[in-house]
Amino acid sequence: AMRSVLAALALVWAARLAAGYKPVIVVHGLFDGPKQLHALQEFITKSHPGTNVSVIDVYDDLFSLEPLWKQVEGFKNAIYPIMQSASEGVHLICYSQGGLVCRGILASLPEHNVHSLIMLSCPLAGQYGDTDYLKFFFPHLLKSKVYHMCYTRWGQRVSLCNYWNDPHQREKYLASSIFLPFLNGERGHPNITTWRESLLRVNKLVLIGGPGDGVITPWQSSFYGFYDKNERIVRMKDQDWYVKDTFGLKTLDLRGDLKQHVYPGVNHTKWHSNYTVYTEAMEPWLT
Ligand SMILES: *[C@@H]1O[C@H](CO)[C@@H](O)[C@H](O)[C@H]1NC(C)=O
Ligand SMILES: *[C@@H]1O[C@H](CO)[C@@H](O)[C@H](O)[C@H]1NC(C)=O
Ligand SMILES: *[C@@H]1O[C@H](CO)[C@@H](O)[C@H](O)[C@H]1NC(C)=O
Ligand SMILES: *[C@@H]1O[C@H](CO)[C@@H](O)[C@H](O)[C@H]1NC(C)=O
Repeated sequence: AMRSVLAALALVWAARLAAGYKPVIVVHGLFDGPKQLHALQEFITKSHPGTNVSVIDVYDDLFSLEPLWKQVEGFKNAIYPIMQSASEGVHLICYSQGGLVCRGILASLPEHNVHSLIMLSCPLAGQYGDTDYLKFFFPHLLKSKVYHMCYTRWGQRVSLCNYWNDPHQREKYLASSIFLPFLNGERGHPNITTWRESLLRVNKLVLIGGPGDGVITPWQSSFYGFYDKNERIVRMKDQDWYVKDTFGLKTLDLRGDLKQHVYPGVNHTKWHSNYTVYTEAMEPWLT
């Protein structure tokens, strides 16, 4: 009898623990999917037993090259029911390109209940670099020439081009990119206020990245910094979008809800399997 009482108590205790943790939704990046994010899922369920972790299984691998607005729709359809069944809200962890998908999801779900929005090594201010990803796609192109492909209607049908940000082609970027300049408020549009309010609904915006990344270029893009036309870094606080608070970043910061975690020695593909990064920069925001 004692044993069954203890077993019953253990069950109640486990249920209470689980009830304390909000569901976690993970959005993958370019050329990956749930398989690559398995370690992260394990970290979460080990440190917070009973947490319902959903690594969204759409637009995996090569399909992650589909245009971002299309991906936003697909991810949104998978994520919305999870949000609806989570009365206390959810946490969203977005990896790499997934960070931009997450921005799009919040923009199109103004009634979302995302508590912590964790951006794990994401090109939030865009990408301008000769990385392996670029070489896969445009093997013979120098980064300075990529805009010829990306800033066209055809190019905008490829995810990478939706956030390709050539600092020497500012006007073309603003005129041709159908994704990033709208989300970051570099271009005005009718939904700008709604999108801003939607981002401000999050409880915490957590940015993680660092100089050893090797893919996100410049790495400061993970912290909303980017190149100027001389390829010098303009840090987040000196960017127009921060100063003018075009999409809510400054408000979040002044509210004390913008958290930044910089790690120097982590390769791009290692962020989600690094236990130190998990325990220091993610776990505290997953309660
Ligand atoms: C986890 O959440 C999903 C989506 O809300 C739900 O379908 C599933 O049943 C949940 N799993 C558990 C073990 O609670
Ligand atoms: C933008 O606004 C229009 C009309 O105001 C609305 O129909 C549309 O759904 C909005 N789009 C997004 C992504 O919020
Ligand atoms: C994990 O992160 C720590 C802290 O930044 C770093 O020292 C370590 O080298 C990383 N390990 C791997 C395998 O990336
Ligand atoms: C990152 O990758 C580079 C090249 O593959 C390698 O030389 C370096 O040791 C890696 N660093 C870490 C911390 O894993």
